[in-house]
Amino acid sequence: MKYFVTGHLGYIGVHLVRQLKEAGHQVTGCDLNLFDGCAFDNIVKPDKEILGDFRKLKADDLKGYDCVMHLAAISNDPMGDLNEQLTYDINLDGSVQLAKLAKQAGVPKFLFSGSCSVYGKGAKLDLAEGDALNPVSAYAVSKVRVEEELSKLADANFIPVYLRNATAYGYSPMLRIDLVVNNLLACAHARGDIRIMSDGSPWRPLVHCSDIAKAFVYIAKADEKKVANRAINIGGNAENYQVKEIGDMIQQLMPDCSIVYTGEAGADPRDYRVKFDLLTELVPEFSLDYTLKAGIEELHRHFLKQRFSLDDFNADKYVRLRVLKHKLNLLAL
Ligand SMILES: NC(=O)c1ccc[n+]([C@@H]2O[C@H](COP(=O)([O-])OP(=O)(O)OC[C@H]3O[C@@H](n4cnc5c(N)ncnc54)[C@H](O)[C@@H]3O)[C@@H](O)[C@H]2O)c1
Repeated sequence: MKYFVTGHLGYIGVHLVRQLKEAGHQVTGCDLNLFDGCAFDNIVKPDKEILGDFRKLKADDLKGYDCVMHLAAISNDPMGDLNEQLTYDINLDGSVQLAKLAKQAGVPKFLFSGSCSVYGKGAKLDLAEGDALNPVSAYAVSKVRVEEELSKLADANFIPVYLRNATAYGYSPMLRIDLVVNNLLACAHARGDIRIMSDGSPWRPLVHCSDIAKAFVYIAKADEKKVANRAINIGGNAENYQVKEIGDMIQQLMPDCSIVYTGEAGADPRDYRVKFDLLTELVPEFSLDYTLKAGIEELHRHFLKQRFSLDDFNADKYVRLRVLKHKLNLLAL
């Protein structure tokens, strides 16, 4: 099969390219390379690479592919606050335009990298795909709107699927430490304490970044009649955790580190648990490779091997917002 992956140089994208290639597929990647120089480890290259803005692609660029997997985005809630319009331009308008081009080019399938953040602060804790959406940031609003717009394009010849990913964590060659689990573990390695910015009570659905990539691979080959035009939560029911549980797990691994509740984040609007039954129902052959504990242990080993330091923790390269602030010029069309 021929796959076209946008955002293939990102935290999740590098896992996806590796998995698709391991499965024997042909992969083309398109990425603006915003995080050039930010790699944590060696990455697997796709067969063909377009280093550019996906908003500049033409229908011809997409002809002949079996599936577009669209991951390129401003992948950060706070970035949406810094420059809301950019988040809408890339994440919403750009994504809808890309889907239209894919349809025009005759690509039969379009998998969109959405987010569980579309649920926002839910009226109840355990949220499923049919529950009300309550996005609380430009980033989350953009994800909701893309689902709405792409569903208008769905027909017998064009199958969009919306993967509502839980919050990612874990090792990737394009590491991010601006995600809650990675941040707490990186802090423990760099500073010797685990700094939790809330009171630790908020719930989060968590999923390893490699398992998100795996979900793309499995949904691409799933029964089309079942997944067509569906929003599907990506994660596992047992993988909802309170932030304090993450801290406790890290402390068990690094008993010399103390847990500090700074409370500086105030009331955290992101407090929700998510149900993942639909994923199991629609794609029964899929299962997660990681529990949170296994994923933390794996990243811990990588931090030890690479001697992750305070300088690494304070540097820009693993924090998307810090890098993006200097790259805004690249994002103007
Ligand atoms: N990481 C998470 O916790 C998480 C959770 C849910 C959903 N998602 C979604 O999954 C996708 C990938 O997330 P990630 O964590 O790998 O993000 P990332 O920031 O690591 O990767 C995004 C990639 O997209 C590229 N990009 C951005 N704008 C582009 C443009 N206009 N043209 C071409 N390339 C562009 C960047 O260079 C980067 O390599 C995003 O859509 C994100 O919203 C991520």
